[in-house]
Amino acid sequence: MTNDRPIGIFDSGVGGLTVARQIMTALPHSKLVYFGDSLRAPYGGRRPEELVQFSREIIDFLHSKNVAALVVACGTISATIFDDVKQMTDVPIMGMLDAGVEAALDATKSERIGIIATAGTIASRAHERAIVAKNPDAKVFAMPCPLFVPLVEEGWLDNDVAQLVAQKYLAQLAENDIDTLILGCTHYPLLIDSIKAALPVDIKIIDPAVRLAEDLAKMILDSPSTQPNHEFYVSGNKDKFDQISYIALNKSFDAKEMRL
Ligand code: DGL
Repeated sequence: MTNDRPIGIFDSGVGGLTVARQIMTALPHSKLVYFGDSLRAPYGGRRPEELVQFSREIIDFLHSKNVAALVVACGTISATIFDDVKQMTDVPIMGMLDAGVEAALDATKSERIGIIATAGTIASRAHERAIVAKNPDAKVFAMPCPLFVPLVEEGWLDNDVAQLVAQKYLAQLAENDIDTLILGCTHYPLLIDSIKAALPVDIKIIDPAVRLAEDLAKMILDSPSTQPNHEFYVSGNKDKFDQISYIALNKSFDAKEMRL
């Protein structure tokens, strides 16, 4: 597939920017159309029916932008309703689950893997099932971190509050002697400094977006003839989104506010 049409990408808010960042690195000449549903974030405690409805609205919008492929840059949707979401489109679509699981299985030596994510993702046990299906000897230790997404949406990435919250969630998880930790929510890489500070230094931290972007780059030919004129849309207030997108992407993209 060539990059003459854009890649559509969406999340509940700013979390998917961490995925956009990896895709921009792997496919520097390919255009992204991003939708962040910050008006209805967080998604982590939402009912599956709501997530199906929101996904349909967003995917319809991204289809109207003539996207050639879709990236569900939301761990919660990827873990809970991805089968429904796949039915909503005819273009190739990727979620976050497989990328994180494969990267973690490649990285672990002790086969003791931690997963942190939203309450919805952890309750689905999707990572645990996928890991054990590929390696029955692996042990999975899960911890929901519901306060992380509001911290990120507020832009509190590495202050004393973020550090204390990370410490509370992660100290207990690390006691299980994990050697690898999957960041199962796309907001979490923005908290990486607080997360690292709360964990033993030798734990390998997996951002699934890195593997996903590598996989996407195998599918799309990143022709340099195209200038990537990325478009960002946000359903809530654009100021906070722009501020965090500047932190995540080192560049201002001047998102447009868009209600679906
Ligand atoms: N960033 C999303 C995820 O990866 C959604 C988080 C949320 O809105 O609760 O799960």
